Amino acid sequence: STQHTATPTSSTTLQNDLILRTLRGEQTERTPVWMMRQAGRYLPDYIKLREKYSFFERCETPELATAITLQPIDQVGVDAAIIFSDILVIPKAMGLEVQLLEGKGPFLPEPIRQASDLNRIHIPDVQESLGYVFDALRLTKKELNGRVPLIGFAGAPWTLLCYMVQGKGSKTFDDAKAFCYTQPEAAHRLLQMITDTTIAYLKEQVKAGADIVQIFDSWGGLLSPADFENISLRYIRQIVAALKDEVLTIVFAKGAWHSLEGMAATGAHGLGIDWCITPALARQMAGPKVVLQGNFDPAKLLAPIPVIEQEVTQMLAAFGGHGHIANLGHGILPNVPVDHARAFVNTVKNYRHKA
Ligand code: CP3
Repeated sequence: STQHTATPTSSTTLQNDLILRTLRGEQTERTPVWMMRQAGRYLPDYIKLREKYSFFERCETPELATAITLQPIDQVGVDAAIIFSDILVIPKAMGLEVQLLEGKGPFLPEPIRQASDLNRIHIPDVQESLGYVFDALRLTKKELNGRVPLIGFAGAPWTLLCYMVQGKGSKTFDDAKAFCYTQPEAAHRLLQMITDTTIAYLKEQVKAGADIVQIFDSWGGLLSPADFENISLRYIRQIVAALKDEVLTIVFAKGAWHSLEGMAATGAHGLGIDWCITPALARQMAGPKVVLQGNFDPAKLLAPIPVIEQEVTQMLAAFGGHGHIANLGHGILPNVPVDHARAFVNTVKNYRHKA
């Protein structure tokens, strides 16, 4: 079925447009494959760059961001590139200090804790504050030279609120939740500011060459179904509505499988799922049209290669060979050997579904 027709035609110049055709609902010769967080972390060439440049230097220097983006294309053979950047460039552009501590993760020394803290942040001019991302997209597009499509991305407003309020990573983000539950008016004002910034940001990513945009709601699964609707999905809905006629869109809300029906109703072309739901149940909940992306357990890439091959084959069979983008159910882990990542990708590429 071709549910979505009003999408860009840039695929005409691409040598490999499998993922674009899949997202448009077309039948393809095989399942496309990429891996969340494929740029960085586990790649030796990335780890070498880490010794020379700080994290935000790597993000803010288009030549470095482009080089890192291309590494998994050249070295692992994925069917799409995702621009090297981070979801935390948005809180930074809105005026919060964001640090990335080696081995510890994100740290925001002056987080948002009350309504008056919103006076310290603003909705930025994205050209002015995030121009380096658009430069990196343009340079990457040029260097890719049509080999594979390019994915842009942003964090979902709820996941960004988590870091902007909690000030650091957390398993539960209870300070962020407490902010939402005790100061709902301020929380919704913040979520709307993030949403407005994100829409402007993703529109510029599309102008700079992103063929697909993915929204990462890494912490969506921390909320009850009702709170997910109220605090997260209603803002994701605004973002998808603003983008879906201009670009192919994927929404990945980790752990929020209970809301697949609502996520499909946003009109997003693709929905990411993690490994805690079967492909059959996800399909039943999301309906017949939307493309599903996932859902290999990233830790399983630590298993021996023959186990990876067997389990990936089982996953592909369970998705049924159509309307599926093969991916992990969350980001690749830093300790995955590169040949295991390659085994994942090659198993998908060699698989042919028997109808
Ligand atoms: O997919 C890609 O490879 C593109 C680049 C990318 C990064 N971060 C680079 C990065 C993407 C898409 C992200 C998204 C991101 N960033 C998310 C959503 C996806 C997810 O995994 O849940 C989140 C929650 C963040 C916030 C963030 N940035 C954290 C928690 C950390 C530290 C720990 C970690 O995840 O590695 C970062 C730093 C970061 N962003 C690194 C990379 C390669 C690691 C820094 C380093 O090793 O140099």
